[in-house]
Amino acid sequence: MGQRWLLLRAPSSNRVYTAEAAAIGAREADLLGEAFTSRPLDAEPATVAGVEYLALTAPGESEADNRLRTALAYHSSAYALFAEESDSRLLPLALERRVNHPSDLISQLKYVGKTNEQFTQMMVNAAACASDNPSALLDGSLRLLDPVCGRGTTLNVALSLGLSPVGVDIDAKDAEAYRAFLTTWLRNHRYKHTAQAGRLSSNGKVHGQTFQAEFAQDKAAQKAGLSQHLTLHTCDTTLVGTLLPAGKTDVVVADLPYGVQHGARTDKLSRSPLELLRRALPGWRRALRKGGAMALAVNLKTTPHDELYAVCAEAGLKPRWPDRVGEMRHRVDNAIERDVALLVRDDYPAQTTN
Ligand SMILES: C[S@@+](CC[C@H](N)C(=O)[O-])C[C@H]1O[C@@H](n2cnc3c(N)ncnc32)[C@H](O)[C@@H]1O
Repeated sequence: MGQRWLLLRAPSSNRVYTAEAAAIGAREADLLGEAFTSRPLDAEPATVAGVEYLALTAPGESEADNRLRTALAYHSSAYALFAEESDSRLLPLALERRVNHPSDLISQLKYVGKTNEQFTQMMVNAAACASDNPSALLDGSLRLLDPVCGRGTTLNVALSLGLSPVGVDIDAKDAEAYRAFLTTWLRNHRYKHTAQAGRLSSNGKVHGQTFQAEFAQDKAAQKAGLSQHLTLHTCDTTLVGTLLPAGKTDVVVADLPYGVQHGARTDKLSRSPLELLRRALPGWRRALRKGGAMALAVNLKTTPHDELYAVCAEAGLKPRWPDRVGEMRHRVDNAIERDVALLVRDDYPAQTTN
């Protein structure tokens, strides 16, 4: 029997999500545990001396414990981690990540319709764990695409984790706001960087704009191979299949338009993203590699489960864990009942399903 570990959760910036975050955080910890130690952690909320933690059972073997500690540093609400000694004293365990950018990278930009940052990071982790190579999350090699990236919450979360993400959104104002934010942020923090904007074209046809940035914290980081890239395409997401190379994306992470702040743009503006998904999913699937995974956040009030999974099946995508569909369901407000669909291609290796 392994030792009990207690994960202290960081306070969330969003009051509504905080109320739901404990249960979702427990599921996220279980996903990380299963992915990095192949064992269930039985994570659950627990109160110790009046303070709320996520309690979990560590494997109790030094190598697996180390892997778990490394993975828990990426948990979306990880603030501090303790091992509970037999005399009930708490021993702090270091939470270390490969890169550490100033936290205002994800908190500074504020706007109506912004996806909660912790929730977004939970989706990135869940997608990595649903793929057949979760370790790519820890070594910076996870190739992430947000095909409806808005003003870039997923992009910034991915950058903060040391990844080099690609974003696509149709809204030119959002893209401009993101470009201005990132270049100012890089300048203010004195990062070594290059950034350029240009036209997005293929086969002699212009589809929109593109913005690319490459950066590293300093010269030493550059030398150590810690440079990161950012790509933002401003165009219709239905073009992803023609613009991005096939089978080169490890995870697709998307907070779909809810029909409240954002509509789904096809020929018309629609409250439900189903028509957009019908048109865009085949391209997103084409970009995804065989063992990759998708995390799609949907509003169940405009996108009922059965309709969502029917559209996914038409595009050759299936739930990663069919018996756990709906587990991350939570209320955002009166108009939004949110859930996260974890999907893989229908040719995803069968032996890795659990
Ligand atoms: C829920 S928002 C994403 C918010 C984002 N996660 C953020 O925090 O900034 C959904 C996004 O879908 C985009 N969208 C809707 N239809 C689209 C289309 N056809 N192609 C690309 N993006 C589209 C909207 O412009 C909006 O930014």
